[in-house]
Parts: sequence; structure tokens; C-alpha cells
Amino acid sequence: MQVIVTPDPGAAFQQAASIIAGEIRSNPSPVLGLATGRTMEGIYSLLVQDHLQNGLDFSTTTSFNLDEYVGLPVSSPQSYRHYMNDHLFAHVNMRADHVHVPDGLAEDLNAECQAYEQAIYDAGGIGLQLLGIGETGHIGFNEPPSPFDSRTRQVTLHPVTRRQNAGMFGGDANKVPEKALTMGVDTILDARHLLLVACGRSKADIIARALLDTVTPDVSASALRLHPHCTVILDTAAARVWQERSALVS
Ligand code: GLP
Repeated sequence: MQVIVTPDPGAAFQQAASIIAGEIRSNPSPVLGLATGRTMEGIYSLLVQDHLQNGLDFSTTTSFNLDEYVGLPVSSPQSYRHYMNDHLFAHVNMRADHVHVPDGLAEDLNAECQAYEQAIYDAGGIGLQLLGIGETGHIGFNEPPSPFDSRTRQVTLHPVTRRQNAGMFGGDANKVPEKALTMGVDTILDARHLLLVACGRSKADIIARALLDTVTPDVSASALRLHPHCTVILDTAAARVWQERSALVS
């Protein structure tokens, strides 16, 4: 695992965007795993800029999003499909049939999850998977405890996550859906390169737990330490507890 600490969130977004753009430029048919959340907005904005200014070409890129709320229509600004359209898909030249977000309105959610796994497999697997981290230590929506052999499935969101994500729902955690579909921990670990980005003081404690404490299903992000090619990009605020604790150990 490579951990990169940047002076501020802007520099973290730059580093992440340049790794993603590198994957797109160097691979004739890149398959990206994409994430949502506030952290990702700065990264997508840089990718859109790269497309508009330098012609970064998304026409052969396929993408799979990590997760989606259950029960929200695409037209709802809170749905992750809507978020992705808003921040990336509407601004770059990705083909509509190359873009995948789990369908949280599917009649048969189990069948939807299985079809999602199959689509990832059929695309040749994910080359680069972008990840954020929730305050519960989740990657995707793999709330504690999430078995490390879990695959795409329906999950119940942790109250801490519903509070963390309430901003998009007028600040009311009760309005955040209780259920979501998410790639499993094992689905995520199947990607060839993992890229976790975390910024801000609110992520510092969970980052230290994920990077230093026991590898456990109680902190999904700790599973990243089992992966042979994982890059973690942190700003100084998110890195602080990890750095303090690492200094005490060494
Ligand atoms: C949501 C997503 C996660 C993401 C997290 C971080 O919960 N399901 O995949 O990691 O948000 O969000 P933020 O970047 O807003 O802190």
C-alpha cells in the first residue's frame, strides 16, 4: 500500500485525477470503478476540465459505480445516478451503454445485484477502482460488519452514515434511505488497482483505524491492506492521526 499525503484537498484531488487520467490515456479500453460523495466532486471536476481543455477521451471507457440508494428515482437529485450525471457523465464523451450504476428501483434487487456482478465480469473486471471512506469505515456502502467475501448486495445503512449523508437530504437523516445496493468488499478487492481518497479532520480517526489497527470486517476499509496494489491519497487533516500514531510506533 502506498500512502501519499498532500498539503490540501486540492492537491489530493489533482493527484487522484492524474492517476485516473493516466489509466484512461494508457489503456485502450479502460474499466473504471467510480465513487460518489463530496470528496469525489473535486476529482470529477478536474477530469471534466482535462476533457474540455486537453481532449481526455472517455469514448472507450466503461464505468461501474460502487453503490446506489434503494428506492430513489434517477430524477431525484439525491440518487447516485443523478450525482454521476451531474458531476461527470453529462460533461464528457462516455457512451451511455458503457456507464453502469446499480438500479435501486429494480423490481428484483437480488437479480439486479447478480446482473451487476456479471456485467463487471463481462467487461473484463475493473482496472482502477476509486474509493472514498465513510465515518463508519465503509467503502462503497459496506457497513460494519461486512464480510470480506461479500459481493454486490442490498445492505442496511448505519445510522452514522445516514447522518453523514443527510446534507443532500435537507439535513434530515431520517430522509436518507435505509437501504442501498453496494458492490461487496470482495467485488472491490477484485479490481486491479484501488485508489482511496480521503480529506478533512472528520476522516482522520477512521483512516488511522483502517491503516493501523486490526484488519477486520468491522472496518471495511481495513481490507484494502490485503490488496497488492492500493494507493491511498490523504490531505494533511485526514492523515494527522495516522501520522501521529505511526510516529509513536516507529
Ligand atoms: C457515501 C458513499 C461512499 C463514500 C462516502 C464518502 O457514503 N457511499 O462510497 O465513500 O460517501 O463521502 P464524502 O466524500 O462525502 O465524505
